[in-house]
Amino acid sequence: MEEKTITDLIEQALSARKNSYAPYSKFRVGAALLDAKGNVYTGVNVENVSYPAGICAERTAIAKAVSEGASDFTAIAIVGGSADRIDILGSYCTPCGICRQVLYEHCSGDLMVIIARSVTDYRLCTLRELLPFAFGMT
Ligand code: THU
Repeated sequence: MEEKTITDLIEQALSARKNSYAPYSKFRVGAALLDAKGNVYTGVNVENVSYPAGICAERTAIAKAVSEGASDFTAIAIVGGSADRIDILGSYCTPCGICRQVLYEHCSGDLMVIIARSVTDYRLCTLRELLPFAFGMT
């Protein structure tokens, strides 16, 4: 994957993160999911006063994409942290276990997961690495 593609996805995740609704945890997350056609579906965490009703950024992006008929996802960028400023994200925000399982339902194990603190500071791994011995349909 080209570096520009990675950088663009991180930028879109950072931009989406501004819309995160996280009044309870104050931990704001943005995600940008890329399909093979080049379309990008963003997502943010949307919390709720009934805490378990909240949803993570990655699952928001998947729900948006799938509901619009998208498939063949190739990469997802994830940015998250407590800071309001995008340039001081404290740590890498890795997807939670539920999101890993949901990603696995709709993406191959080859999905590139870009875990970023900024457009220049990121780590790459595959979904397979994040969810070894995954439980799947086959
Ligand atoms: N969260 C995400 O949106 N994605 C992750 O990968 C980790 C956690 C959200 C859930 C909750 O709204 C907040 O971050 C704190 O856990």
